[in-house]
Amino acid sequence: MAKSKVTVVGAGNVGGTTAQRLAERNYSDVVLVDIVEGLPQGKALDILESGPVLGFDAVVTGTNDYADTAGSDIVVITSGSPRKPGMSRDDLLKTNQDIVSSVTEQVVEHSPESIIVVVANPLDAMCHVTLETSGFPRERVVGMAGILDTARYRTFIAEEAGASVRDVFALVLGGHGDTMVPLPSMATVGGVSITELLPEDRVEEIVQRTRQGGAEIVDHMGTSAFYAPSAAVVEMVDAILLDQKRILPCAAYLQGEYGLNDLFVGVPVKLGAAGVEEVIELDLTEPEMHDLNNSADSVRELVEVLNG
Ligand code: LAC
Repeated sequence: MAKSKVTVVGAGNVGGTTAQRLAERNYSDVVLVDIVEGLPQGKALDILESGPVLGFDAVVTGTNDYADTAGSDIVVITSGSPRKPGMSRDDLLKTNQDIVSSVTEQVVEHSPESIIVVVANPLDAMCHVTLETSGFPRERVVGMAGILDTARYRTFIAEEAGASVRDVFALVLGGHGDTMVPLPSMATVGGVSITELLPEDRVEEIVQRTRQGGAEIVDHMGTSAFYAPSAAVVEMVDAILLDQKRILPCAAYLQGEYGLNDLFVGVPVKLGAAGVEEVIELDLTEPEMHDLNNSADSVRELVEVLNG
């Protein structure tokens, strides 16, 4: 069987770290592509040269030419202008629309059968740009946000509960923005609900901190997060390439699920070889459904700006 091929578009912090994590998985060749000359070549060679020490032999290539991405099984789009301090994800909208649509055209030309994982912000809106530009079926365009937001939520819950993050299950739904919906009712530590385990005001603080999780990192270091985002991307690539059928929170194009139509929103999906193989419909409470609708509204507003 031919080795699989994963392309990472954008050789910035998220793209570079994603390429590194993928190379270390050693299950596919990795192509890092960027318009900046020298950057993808340098990062790819540096990653490749870690192979003899770490013991992987995946081929890692850096390029400015999309011809080198041809026949990719998965393409991860990280390109776009990153957030600066004080800037919201939504400020990035128009700039990144142009970048992401042009990238998508080139991706589709060379890898018409690929599954595209969108990471560019504002995430849910950029998923729309990719879906529309690619003409792909909805199964093959999926956004990374829910795993990252949920990872932050789990981190804060574990810290508060004094437990291992490995024993914390949680779920964040909705758009990747300030209106995201961390669900306290579904968050458990070793099977015990956090609503029983932690005081209500602490749960509310954790929910708020999760919503601001991306900005908290930007405030610290003046640029967007990349370690946790790249880890989240790689969990999705694992699920698809290895056909794991994982149930993971991702941005998926809804067509009737949760009463939402023609909109990318973060929901649990089954990820396998075909991409988004199923949208899982949870039985949400009234208030949770209200919050999800509210978050969907803010995604819809952005999409309207895109089309305007
Ligand atoms: C974050 C950016 C990547 O949430 O959206 O850190």
